[in-house]
Amino acid sequence: MEFLAKSAQPEKHKSGCLAITLFDGGALSVSAKKIDDASEGAISKIVKLGDFSGASGQAMLLPAPAGIQAQRLLLIGLGKLPVSAKSFRSSMSSALSRVISSKTKDLSICFDGVDVDKHDIEWMVAQTGELAATTTYTFNQFKSKEQKKAINLTKLTFLADGKKQQTALTNAANNAQAIGNGMNTTRTLGNLPGNECPPAYLAKEAKKIAKGQKKLTIKVIEEKEMKELGMGALLSVSAGSDQPAKLIIMEYKGGKKNDAPHVIVGKGVTFDTGGISLKPGGDMDQMKFDMCGAASVLGTMQAVVEMDLALNVIGVITAAENMPSGGATRPGDIVTTMAGLTVEILNTDAEGRLVLCDALTYVKKFKPASVIDIATLTGACLVALGNHTSGMLGNNDEVMDNLRFAADSTQDAVWQLPMGEEYMRQLDSPFADMANIGGRNAGTITAACFLSRFTEDYPWAHLDIAGTAWISAGPKKGATGRPVPLLTQYLMNQV
Ligand code: BES
Ligand code: MN
Ligand code: ZN
Repeated sequence: MEFLAKSAQPEKHKSGCLAITLFDGGALSVSAKKIDDASEGAISKIVKLGDFSGASGQAMLLPAPAGIQAQRLLLIGLGKLPVSAKSFRSSMSSALSRVISSKTKDLSICFDGVDVDKHDIEWMVAQTGELAATTTYTFNQFKSKEQKKAINLTKLTFLADGKKQQTALTNAANNAQAIGNGMNTTRTLGNLPGNECPPAYLAKEAKKIAKGQKKLTIKVIEEKEMKELGMGALLSVSAGSDQPAKLIIMEYKGGKKNDAPHVIVGKGVTFDTGGISLKPGGDMDQMKFDMCGAASVLGTMQAVVEMDLALNVIGVITAAENMPSGGATRPGDIVTTMAGLTVEILNTDAEGRLVLCDALTYVKKFKPASVIDIATLTGACLVALGNHTSGMLGNNDEVMDNLRFAADSTQDAVWQLPMGEEYMRQLDSPFADMANIGGRNAGTITAACFLSRFTEDYPWAHLDIAGTAWISAGPKKGATGRPVPLLTQYLMNQV
């Protein structure tokens, strides 16, 4: 999809469809008023008939009345002024769905006179761009030809008021496009089934993103080198699989040579059967999404490259498949991590922390400015926060404040959970330095406590995306692309 911004009057701009906004009680925005004037009151007639109230989420597509240059008009209801960020997003989402179900090829939108609480027009463009990129996403590569759904919309133009605003909106639209593209990469990787997307595929995808990019280099650590590095925890997860584990390092040098890098580490369990602690059969297919943390790292790195961000960023993917077999790790097995700590693996289904801990030790050598790990780590996080909000824990308030700030502007929500010694004690083991599970209670917290033993040397935050990375049922079943907006915005704010 192509995004651009153009300084033009809405009534004179040629496009397949022009979108304008109305508010509660049928109040016209500045651009709606211009259209109304140019069309002998076509908009106020619709309002007077009672067909359009301007309520939040309302969307109406009409053949354009005489007097304006677009072929169609899209009326978008935004509700009460000032519009809340949430309501803006959901209204734009339903408006875009309405256009996408039509034959419209190019859409132009004018936000003249729209007032969103705490946000400016650049934010509106960024949000709308991201929504447009993701609403037009399809994943039908495994459908036979006849079933493929065609999307007609390929171009989105934001109408600006003057050249100066055009420059600002172009910039916002380009960033939105990079984030949207990154999200769609993340979604496709998440949606791919386990047989198509083993650890080696993630390594291939990293190389694909780096192809032709001078600032991005890829290094893949194979199992032999993992052994030499002492990564006993990571290797214990892939032990039962025919697919070798891969530790993928994506080093992006956009900043000054000696600037400390920001590191993002993604859990890439390409399929999680639970291992010998086998999961129940129902819904096990969803564990193809257990690499969504890794996929979000790939999507974010793609966005960083596309935006040519002036920052040093390192993306790390710790990829393995968790399978039962004669070579698989048994409950009770004790392994030694790269950090030297020994772990009693009481449940082979708590494998995410095992693949992450060695990666988190490995990244120490980069002397990071911050480290964020992203993982579909615990079912308990779904119980606590549902599908709307990612869990956040960490050892550094500044990193978490920065994440909260980025979450607020992208609407890619996080919520912090507590950590502390009292939870850490749940991981005590009679036989090793620690166990890999901490009992039924506070599962998300004890998982983060486990990770925190490996992150003491740098500012660190952990995102548990078990609830937010994919939608598990219904027509929208599939990967969401979260938290690519959050991570990318976090990095943009560090420049
Ligand atoms: N990948 C799962 C977590 C998960 C489960 C995410 C369901 C999304 C939906 C993870 O590897 C896992 O199995 N965690 C266990 C940990 C437990 C054994 C301590 C869990 O959450 O049950
Ligand atoms: Mn598991
Ligand atoms: Zn898992």
